[in-house]
Amino acid sequence: MLKSSYPYYLANVAKQPNTDLEVTDKYSGKVATRVALADSKAIDAGIAAAVAAAEPMREFAPYQRQAVLEHCVRRFRERYDELAMALCIEAGKPIKDARGEVTRLIDTFKVAAEEAVRINGEVLNLEISARAKGYRGFTRRVPIGPCSFISPFNFPLNLAAHKVAPGIAAGCPFVLKPASRTPIGALIIGEILAETDLPKGAFSILPAHRDGADLFTTDERLKLLSFTGSPAVGWDLKAKAGKKKVVLELGGNAACVVEADQRDRLDAVIERIIFGAFYQSGQSCIGVQRILVHADIYDEFRKRFVAATGKLVAGDPKDEKTFIGPMIDEKEAKRLDDWIQEAVKAGAKLLCGGKRDGAMLDATVLEQVGPDQKVNCMEAFGPVATLQPYTEFDQALKIVDDSEFGLQAGIFCDDINKAMRAWDRLDVGGVVIGDVPSFRVDNMPYGGVKDSGLGREGIRYAIEDMTELRLLVVRDHA
Ligand code: SIN
Repeated sequence: MLKSSYPYYLANVAKQPNTDLEVTDKYSGKVATRVALADSKAIDAGIAAAVAAAEPMREFAPYQRQAVLEHCVRRFRERYDELAMALCIEAGKPIKDARGEVTRLIDTFKVAAEEAVRINGEVLNLEISARAKGYRGFTRRVPIGPCSFISPFNFPLNLAAHKVAPGIAAGCPFVLKPASRTPIGALIIGEILAETDLPKGAFSILPAHRDGADLFTTDERLKLLSFTGSPAVGWDLKAKAGKKKVVLELGGNAACVVEADQRDRLDAVIERIIFGAFYQSGQSCIGVQRILVHADIYDEFRKRFVAATGKLVAGDPKDEKTFIGPMIDEKEAKRLDDWIQEAVKAGAKLLCGGKRDGAMLDATVLEQVGPDQKVNCMEAFGPVATLQPYTEFDQALKIVDDSEFGLQAGIFCDDINKAMRAWDRLDVGGVVIGDVPSFRVDNMPYGGVKDSGLGREGIRYAIEDMTELRLLVVRDHA
């Protein structure tokens, strides 16, 4: 259960100046708890504290950063059930998915604890011509300085963790704005960080409404902005971010391709695609949205896929049996419902689903959807998937790439040459062979190309962004 109110964290300290932010239970729609809401004065103070903490954080040794991250891992394990229930309530995430996210949160901090003591440099051979004789080079990585993090509603814990944990490992103080609809997970991380001996001012976790939170983006004292969220918001923030480095983890309309050689394991493939398309009501940037199936197995695939989708249990996310919970709010569910109706009006065939009750939208499958329909070409970010047949593998790759986005793609095939061709050709951040594009473990480089973003997360890769290379050149006079 949630507490009746939560403080925010300003310069490592819990503060409760108000309880202005209501957080609802996304299934019942009732207010579940209240949270301190930061105004621009508090955000300014958090940034000033992070600036003052830059040097102490740089001097906070790698083994000390590791100890902080290990403390978090221990405390997350102790508070596992509480964290999962918080996600279930504030995000409407089915309890099984919520537990899965807490497990991933622990992985993310564990990997960061390991990486904190592995931030190394290189010895460079500079003697590339006669004028450089006797010179040697060395590099090491130094923290970039105070960072700004903005995290989304769909993974309130783990996508905040993908910024916070590498930030600590890299030695960067930070200000974090969690999504205002789901701030509780991040605030529990704050409560646990406040138990550690991180230097004063090293972290501030400040829920704020978007329109009062410009400083997270525009303040020139911040050296990096790392944002996860929608493409429209992300690219707009980048335009306002000034000189700071910007990392954007945005969305997509991920596709997966099923080759005819999957005929004998179709049920297993379908089970994974149903998971990829509909888990946490499709609210994942790498949720399966477009499903391309070889014409030779299309009819059989469609029959079994639609039957299995129709059996998904929808309802209260706290119920162990629930697979489909609510979307984050009714507005989002209505937006996607409208897209579905628009596609149907334009000639698409509704194979199952398509009904909505408030924020609950059925798992929906469509076919014969025009490429320009929003459910195909824009990010659906909800429980809808489109089916289409193809005859040539290369044609399928072209369809996958015919998108403004490029995050991950999934290819079900047994032919190694086709797998390699997909890896060569697809313009995406990652290709997954034998599984859905929705597959992610937390140490892999994760991020997109085209409108899906800039940069990569995955601890080691985030640490690269959160550090600068510093060169040392030594001339040998001997
Ligand atoms: C996302 O929605 O961007 C993250 C997906 C994941 O971490 O599984």
